[in-house]
Amino acid sequence: MTTSSIETAPKFAPSRDGRGRLLVVSNRVALPGVVHAGGLAAALGDALRESGGVWIGWSGKRSEQREPTRRSAGNVEYVTLDLSNAEHRGFYLHYANRTLWPLLHSRADLLEHDPWAAEVYRQVNRRFAELVRRVAQPGDLIWVHDYHFLPLASELRRLGVDNPVGMFLHTPFPSPDIAQALPGDERTFGALADYDLVGVQTERDLYHLRRYLRLERAIDPSGPQLRAFPIGIDPKAMSDHAEAAVDTLSYRHLLESLAGRRLVIGVDRLDYSKGLPRRFIAYGEMFERHPELLRQVSYLQIAPISRGEVPEYRELKERLDSLAGSINARYGDADWVPLRYVTRSYKHNVIAGYYRASRVGLVTPLRDGMNLVAKEFVAAQDPQDPGVLVLSEFAGAAEQMKAALQVNPYDTTSLADRLAEALQMPLAERRRRWERLMSGVLEHDVSSWRRQFVDCLVGLAEQPPKLERRAAPRLGRRPLAESIAGAIGGTADSLRGRA
Ligand code: G6P
Repeated sequence: MTTSSIETAPKFAPSRDGRGRLLVVSNRVALPGVVHAGGLAAALGDALRESGGVWIGWSGKRSEQREPTRRSAGNVEYVTLDLSNAEHRGFYLHYANRTLWPLLHSRADLLEHDPWAAEVYRQVNRRFAELVRRVAQPGDLIWVHDYHFLPLASELRRLGVDNPVGMFLHTPFPSPDIAQALPGDERTFGALADYDLVGVQTERDLYHLRRYLRLERAIDPSGPQLRAFPIGIDPKAMSDHAEAAVDTLSYRHLLESLAGRRLVIGVDRLDYSKGLPRRFIAYGEMFERHPELLRQVSYLQIAPISRGEVPEYRELKERLDSLAGSINARYGDADWVPLRYVTRSYKHNVIAGYYRASRVGLVTPLRDGMNLVAKEFVAAQDPQDPGVLVLSEFAGAAEQMKAALQVNPYDTTSLADRLAEALQMPLAERRRRWERLMSGVLEHDVSSWRRQFVDCLVGLAEQPPKLERRAAPRLGRRPLAESIAGAIGGTADSLRGRA
């Protein structure tokens, strides 16, 4: 890897198809050699390594240094900024993680709004927009990711950047009444109108976003194109890792420690959206309802600590520590620990082996954009003897992964029963389900996700320029059905019927 200042760095040649470079902007950047807990950084790393391009984002460091660091590895150039302590507090810890994150996951009850943090959020967006303007060349595509940078396109337009700009939201988009709970929502979410393309994970998110922007906030119908692009993984890399892991010490030690018991695995950032307390409770309930499974199972929950400086996350950790202790105290034995709960993180290839060693993958978020663990678990299975995926109906992945055992994660009793069913499922049914799941994972992989988004953005850029892209003034909560029917592709009558 080479490092240089922004002025002296070599310019990357345009990509082979002559479309200009792909400039990706996201808060987290998967710098070479650094392990990341979130799915976003891993997926973008896979996508960018394939196409080549420039990745702009936060260095992960706090300092008063204002100049960017520029480095390159392979066909990807990384341009990162440090955040000052105040920026880190206002932009990342507060506005991104305590205001937008809970709201986007339909937890308006946890929303903490602070006008100072909202202002820092805007300033940091301005700072990144200035950096993008310095790096961008005519013809480059700018692809912005996630809720950290909702106003980035507005800032870029203000600076005179007229390259095509797309946004992909990795989280869910909540129903419009929840979105409106955000103080100043018109400004924050209305800024989406300055993108050429806004992508979301699922049809459900698209439905919510369309209704919010076009019905509640009356964004010009000729404004951004809105579409669902479900993200995927690199299934070949995952299954190769899993196959190779069988010969490693970490895999063998895990198997030995199981002493023939069936393994249930969960891998999640320690986040309240993941539904971990209810998952632990359901696991305990399973032993009450299915005592024949006592001593037959071990559940490994890997939950790396995330956003540990945010109070809601610290409280969650205390709750999980206590629940795990009480489950093991109640059901465990001198030679059997029912729940192995660890907060350290593991390398991707080690996790791949753990997935392969598992009979059940437990993915039960209360709300989740996509959840790539569900797809990774499937890709890591042995086709001859695959494990079973138990999947929350509120994970974005549930729209595609119909062959999983789908559960309502709020219903701990039926979750307990579904888990027992998964643990006892006959091989023929496990295979049938796995084959259907795997063909979906192969078809909608990370590379087709990137291609579809980029092709769509290129297609839009080739169209004649739009006359006016700004958000129209707010029309009120119940605008005339006739005036917006065209915007969401319905008739005035059908709209009245829905109201
Ligand atoms: C989710 C978000 C990402 C974020 C990741 C890890 O996947 O959609 O934008 O990067 O969580 O969270 P963190 O706060 O550690 O970046």
